Amino acid sequence: MSGNTPTQELATIVQESFHKHFGYSPSHVGFAPGRVNLIGEHTDYNDGFVLPAAIDKAVYVAARLRDDRTINLVSLDYEGSVSFSLDQLQDHSLPAWSRYPRGVPFILSQMGAPLRGMDLVVAGNVPRGGGFSSSAAIEVALIEVITALLAMPLTQAQKALLGVRVEHEFVGIPCGIMDQMISAVGQVDHAILIDCRTQETTPVPIPSGVSIITLDTGTRRELVEGEYGARRRQCEEAAAALGIKALRDIGPVGLIENLEKLPAPPQPHRMRALHAVHENARTLKAVEALRQGDMDTMGKLMNLSHISLSDLYEVSIKELDIMAYLAQREPQCFGARMMGGGFGGAVIALVEDSAAESFAERVTRSYQRMTGRTPAAFVAKAGRGSGVITL
Ligand code: GLA
Repeated sequence: MSGNTPTQELATIVQESFHKHFGYSPSHVGFAPGRVNLIGEHTDYNDGFVLPAAIDKAVYVAARLRDDRTINLVSLDYEGSVSFSLDQLQDHSLPAWSRYPRGVPFILSQMGAPLRGMDLVVAGNVPRGGGFSSSAAIEVALIEVITALLAMPLTQAQKALLGVRVEHEFVGIPCGIMDQMISAVGQVDHAILIDCRTQETTPVPIPSGVSIITLDTGTRRELVEGEYGARRRQCEEAAAALGIKALRDIGPVGLIENLEKLPAPPQPHRMRALHAVHENARTLKAVEALRQGDMDTMGKLMNLSHISLSDLYEVSIKELDIMAYLAQREPQCFGARMMGGGFGGAVIALVEDSAAESFAERVTRSYQRMTGRTPAAFVAKAGRGSGVITL
């Protein structure tokens, strides 16, 4: 299954493949989208603000309950199938691609859910490892379908937080709540401002005439999961040194006044705090700019966000910098920045609609010439959040 499969075909694909595999029909299909993030990077675990949008690329899962305790799992993306018992969810000898699908029933069982065996077929078109949150999409799609099978009524926020628990308690990644939350609550043509402390979500319309273009550098995160945890820890240490609960609780002026309370360089805490605090402020300004259709301000905020992620937060790499700067210098580009956790993946650019295609072509051509890598660009349409189809 490739990233080029149209999303509207995925529901049919998983149902047909389910029938072929198991000889009967699924009862439910769950789905959950990947995401882009306009601005608000590495702010979610600081109790701050983020402004992501769900995209029209998603993971679909066809499912039916069984009468025993066996899970039969088929992945069209990994072209694999595996069977395991509900008592075997933590078995590390099972294939790595089955980790997320095992994590969901594991957390549900921790919550005391009345689990049973099930047959599952999974397929998606969210690019993997590019910063589009394909793993959150898998988690949330499975949560949608399994909670429907078990008739467990949960709010969209509760489903998202369950996905976050899968990351924290099963996969071992100390992520924030952005990816699962936007996957669960996305809205067509809107970005969603998420207050990661209160979990309040506010839709913000994306102005007409603006295209969201993603520019995948073709690089992938490798061996840097520890870097993510290290950033989170440094932010928590900075908050503790400032005597506040999280970096959300101080503004740019307050931080400057108190900067010497943080460990001095070469310790990284001042740089990390400066990024997180200003990025939070930029995210709130970006919401105002979008509401007023002020794309020049929106673009400048995105460009500043990139510099800050690169220089202060140190989560960019050369390829992301090159892609961002190539995009930013195009006259029809309002702004561009690296997206997601960093250390590889994609850049997001906001571009005048009429120039979208020629922009993507020019930037990817120059990028390829400069780096020798094969990039990939696509126009991301802000789409709906996760859900379930009862058949
Ligand atoms: C990853 C994490 C998110 C968030 C971003 C950075 O995508 O899963 O929770 O922290 O990085 O903004």
